[in-house]
Amino acid sequence: MAPYKIGYFVGSLASNSINRILSKALIKLAPDNLEFTEIPIKDLPLYSPDYDADFPAEGTALKEAIEASDGILFISPEYNRSVPGALKNAIDWGSRPWGSNSFARKPTGIIGASPGSIGTAVMQSSMRSVLSFLDAPQLNSPEAYVHFDAAVFADDGEITNEGTASFLRHYMEEYEAFVARVLAANAPGHIGDQQADSAKLTR
Ligand code: FNR
Repeated sequence: MAPYKIGYFVGSLASNSINRILSKALIKLAPDNLEFTEIPIKDLPLYSPDYDADFPAEGTALKEAIEASDGILFISPEYNRSVPGALKNAIDWGSRPWGSNSFARKPTGIIGASPGSIGTAVMQSSMRSVLSFLDAPQLNSPEAYVHFDAAVFADDGEITNEGTASFLRHYMEEYEAFVARVLAANAPGHIGDQQADSAKLTR
């Protein structure tokens, strides 16, 4: 079976990001038939509708990367109880120009790490609202609110605690199964397929 192409966003621009470490851990633990490509966000200008008539190369590259992906995974910190601005900016780029929302019907997963005890729960809740508006189905269960402990996560994404590794492995297995279910539902000829194109046009 051809691998599923997963485009992933790291919602932090920090050089020592714990969410980047989490992304490395998730890639190591994921089922073999998920193939990961990062979708970079750091060089995007701040989105303005003024760009819609003449999209810059960075915006076009982002949209093409999303559209080339079978599934999208967001690995992000929580900033001030919400989605970090750099990540929200990237999502805004992907959603425009009006009528060409690149996220429509893409299976998505949301996960994040924080040194705090609620492990990005409020960011994830905000993201669900954004992704629902963009018609992007989301893995609902399991949820994964990762309390980051540097004694458990090495910089290269190795995890020393088997309980944590097994939890995150399970998350990625469920994510893979979810991607497969959404792709099957989106397949040509499947009930609901007639709405696939119109879903893009309504945004
Ligand atoms: C934070 N941090 C934070 N943590 C949290 O659990 N809830 C929050 O609302 C916030 N808010 C917040 C705002 C801003 C502007 C910063 C810089 C930080 C702390 C945050 O979880 C911590 O810095 C993580 O290390 C950020 O993840 P990365 O960048 O290391 O991946």
